[in-house]
Amino acid sequence: MVTNISHSPAETEALGELWGRAAREGLVIGLSGDLGAGKTQLVKGLARGLGIPARTHSPTFTLVNIYRGGRLTLFHIDLYRLDTPAQMIEAGLEEYLDPAGVAVVEWAEKWFGRMPKFPKRYRSVMIDVLNESERRISYEDIGA
Ligand SMILES: Nc1ncnc2c1ncn2[C@@H]1O[C@H](COP(=O)(O)OP(=O)(O)OP(=O)(O)O)[C@@H](O)[C@H]1O
Ligand SMILES: [Mg+2]
Repeated sequence: MVTNISHSPAETEALGELWGRAAREGLVIGLSGDLGAGKTQLVKGLARGLGIPARTHSPTFTLVNIYRGGRLTLFHIDLYRLDTPAQMIEAGLEEYLDPAGVAVVEWAEKWFGRMPKFPKRYRSVMIDVLNESERRISYEDIGA
């Protein structure tokens, strides 16, 4: 487990950017943390690190936003509105267990751990709110 303390939204974004630069095809990044923890903030940095030209925003009306034009395609999935594993299979999310690019999943705990299938290469990330401006960002890599 690796732990970072972020002192600002910009620092959280910078961490995501580092991950984006280092990411390899097939990586799944699962984000857990309360409302407003900074999951989407991290995704913004990730997109920048992958060289994606578009601005990212959370998928609101769709489950998955797809960003092309970077070094790898980024699939941004937000499970906030889903509850059961059956809904996730129904929504076709199993495709993103071994993505043709990088997949990042907000509210990942709703999916991984509750489903029999698991990503091949997975980074499990927890964001804890310490106070108004500080976040503890811990992660663990699972799989090759
Ligand atoms: N160190 C920090 N890192 C990230 N965000 C921070 C930090 N300090 C303050 N913030 C603020 O916290 C909020 C994080 O919002 P963000 O949308 O990224 O959260 P989220 O986890 O995606 O929430 P949701 O569950 O609603 O999708 C922003 O308003 C941001 O400015
Ligand atoms: Mg979000």
